[in-house]
Amino acid sequence: MEITTLENDTSKVIRVLLVDDEANYRKAVARRLERRNMVVSQASDGTACLEYLGGNETDVVVLDMKMPGMSGMETFNSIRKYYPGLKVIFLTGNAALTEGVEGIKAGAFDYLAKPVEIDHLAGKIRQAWELKRLEEGRERDKIFRRRLEKRMIHTQRLASLGTMSTGIAHEINNPLAIIKESTGFLRMVIEDSGQIPEKEMLFKGLEKIENSVDRAGRITHQLLGYVRKQGHELTPVDIRGLTEDTVALIKQKTQAKKVSVEWAREPEHEMRMHTDPFQVRQVLINLLENAVDAVDTNGQIRLALYRKAQSVCLEVRDNGCGITPENIEKIFDPFFTTKPNVAENESGTGLGLFVVHKIMTGLSGSIHVESEPGRGTTFKICLPEWQSDSTITNS
Ligand SMILES: Nc1ncnc2c1ncn2[C@@H]1O[C@H](COP(=O)(O)OP(=O)(O)O)[C@@H](O)[C@H]1O
Ligand SMILES: [Mg+2]
Repeated sequence: MEITTLENDTSKVIRVLLVDDEANYRKAVARRLERRNMVVSQASDGTACLEYLGGNETDVVVLDMKMPGMSGMETFNSIRKYYPGLKVIFLTGNAALTEGVEGIKAGAFDYLAKPVEIDHLAGKIRQAWELKRLEEGRERDKIFRRRLEKRMIHTQRLASLGTMSTGIAHEINNPLAIIKESTGFLRMVIEDSGQIPEKEMLFKGLEKIENSVDRAGRITHQLLGYVRKQGHELTPVDIRGLTEDTVALIKQKTQAKKVSVEWAREPEHEMRMHTDPFQVRQVLINLLENAVDAVDTNGQIRLALYRKAQSVCLEVRDNGCGITPENIEKIFDPFFTTKPNVAENESGTGLGLFVVHKIMTGLSGSIHVESEPGRGTTFKICLPEWQSDSTITNS
């Protein structure tokens, strides 16, 4: 258990900057405020005040209105402009009531007339500080909520795109099958008929059609997923074994590039969970293939597998090219790819992560990505240890 005492909690110390040109007066007030548990810094004029604020976290500024050089009001205007969250309390001359009121109108927290009663000043400083903390808390909430909303919109958009693209993929599969069959038929006819001019050219054309059909087929295949055929098959799974089998599945790809795939930390000998092995394998294949694409020859992929609360987490870390902050927002979008998009090329459909996201949502899991351009990327997926039919979302 963690115990926090008031004295030790630095967030509860009020940092005050006292700005006054009368040195003796300033020092006396500072000393007395410090005795009331505040950290007080001092500045003799407006310029020194702004200079200090540039490099030091401050909560409340106590500002003399009447100073030689930059006036209190001018200093205040700069503070408002550059440090809008700061609270300012004005000190005015005895008879200068209108000045103080003007200060409040301009946005100061309050004003006190000199000579100030020290407890009165300390009380005002505390109130100003509390207001500042409250406002900061609200601002943090607002930022948090905005981020959450953005993420939710993104997830919803991907979910509906998932449903739509699965439908389209399904519809496109039939015409694709017909085109494929027809090319086979044409090939046969051409082969069998004796004297057709430019036979070779015709075969070349057919080959191009076949390659493109294959590529389109790969796309629909990815969208529908192997999973579709198996349905949701929830069974006990040895996730460690499944991971190692999947790594073996893409051995051709890793060996061709001399990429090493190893455990960063040896997991428990066997790790049991209850989930859909086909979908999880699909996720793993997509993440591993991306990692292989991202690294140079002799690159490294490190895996980690561990339990966390009621979840099983798996990390795929590579030391490849990384993802720019600008692209990281888009990687889960369908058809977003930075890879060359050649018809015959297997890579670069931009569907891998989209499918990963779709599957993870369906399995009530989560996915996180961290990346540093030039250094590498880590994808982390977490799945419920026990997946039951009722928690599955169909997409
Ligand atoms: N491990 C990774 N390292 C660097 N970039 C990655 C990684 N994984 C994904 N990406 C980026 O995300 C994009 C989308 O990935 P994905 O959806 O699998 O489509 P594809 O692999 O077909 O391009 C990739 O083109 C690449 O820019
Ligand atoms: Mg991919």
